[in-house]
Amino acid sequence: KVVAVIMVGGPTKGTRFRPLSLNIPKPLFPLAGYPMVHHPISACKRIPNLAQIYLIGFYEEREFSLYVSSISNELKVPVRYLREDKPHGSAGGIYNFRDLIMEEDPSHIFLLNCDVCSSFPLPEMLEAHKRYGGIGTILVVKVSAESANQFGELVSDPVTNELLHYTEKPETFVSDRINCGVYVFTPDIFTAIQGVSTQRKDRANLRRVSSFEAMQLDTRNIPTDYVRLDQDILSPLAGKKQLYIYETTHFWEQIKTPGMSLKCSVLYLSQFRHTTPHLLATGDGTKSAAIIGDVYIHPSAKVHPTAKIGPGVSISANARIGPGARLISCIILDGVEIKENAVVIHAIVGWKSSIGKWARVQASGDYNAKLGVTILAANLVPMVNPGESVSVEDEVVVVNSIVLPHKTLNVGVQDEILL
Ligand code: GDD
Repeated sequence: KVVAVIMVGGPTKGTRFRPLSLNIPKPLFPLAGYPMVHHPISACKRIPNLAQIYLIGFYEEREFSLYVSSISNELKVPVRYLREDKPHGSAGGIYNFRDLIMEEDPSHIFLLNCDVCSSFPLPEMLEAHKRYGGIGTILVVKVSAESANQFGELVSDPVTNELLHYTEKPETFVSDRINCGVYVFTPDIFTAIQGVSTQRKDRANLRRVSSFEAMQLDTRNIPTDYVRLDQDILSPLAGKKQLYIYETTHFWEQIKTPGMSLKCSVLYLSQFRHTTPHLLATGDGTKSAAIIGDVYIHPSAKVHPTAKIGPGVSISANARIGPGARLISCIILDGVEIKENAVVIHAIVGWKSSIGKWARVQASGDYNAKLGVTILAANLVPMVNPGESVSVEDEVVVVNSIVLPHKTLNVGVQDEILL
């Protein structure tokens, strides 16, 4: 049997994702019409003999209960949310729940970060992992040399694929091959984590004996049960014939900012074209709007037949798109109203916002720039109080800006953050 664990983090993490994460947990923010965490979960469904999926995080239980029960029914694989009382780090988190995770007596455990966007080649990784015979296999991708330092950089043996060297976010360049935050382990990983934890406890005891010596040993004073997978496990195990890599040439991105969430929404839409084309809007029929490229439209959304939508657009529940509206590369959230002849390009339009006739909401589409995507962050709790939403009045133009709730825009704005 195989089990999968997805690390979802908690409310103190993901601050760079604001304002999108102000009222909704980041893992539940919709990409291509489905919560961020839904994409790795549905990828797990392709793993042979999958018995359980666990989400581990330190958000309140109730934030995930609805999603977890609906996805369990849909996938016919039990999905369970396990809440940590405090952050234990990426390895400490799974160690904390080792008894539960081992309940099914799995031969392999997948571990996935929830904030990465990938085609998740999990069955292929598992096959490779069995061939290598180590305790873990890491999904790896080649990135540009300039961007590599945001990730764990690694060196591997080109013939055996053994992980030879690992450095987390190094200051000087090591390699353009990076850790994708997707792993498969044998249960021996728990022994490795326990080793680090025991070492920490020994140091802590020593500290009581000699505080000077202890300061030299561990100046960062990390709690003994806080164990990071990357620095504390991968780095020391590199070059010991225990860890191997599986390199993907498919798409892979990290989702830390709102701009990247739009980029990843577009990537997942284009993946649907290959994997689940029935989820995409077709534009067939005389009453349908013109659809260009990959577009997701929730069945309850109303799109006028003269609107033109796509590519790269996802439209959530109960949105209304008026006559002649033009939407390109955007995420339209629940209950948004876009009136006639309005244009929305490279934007995220928050719950229940409204965009007036002939208005334009747009951005440069530079996903890495702070204001490369325009965000109307209205009323981030769906349907609570319509009075709080952002409203862009008729003919107003909003360019490269972030607009927080409670705003009515009656004059144009450009390159601004309106709090
Ligand atoms: N449950 C729980 N508890 N989850 C956690 C905790 C914790 O204490 N700490 C982090 N996470 C989750 C985050 O929500 C995220 O999904 C994942 O674990 C990794 O987060 P970080 O530890 O903050 O690392 P990172 O995202 O900056 O970098 C990691 O991922 C990169 C790939 O996206 C590293 O492993 C890098 O080497 C890697 O390149």
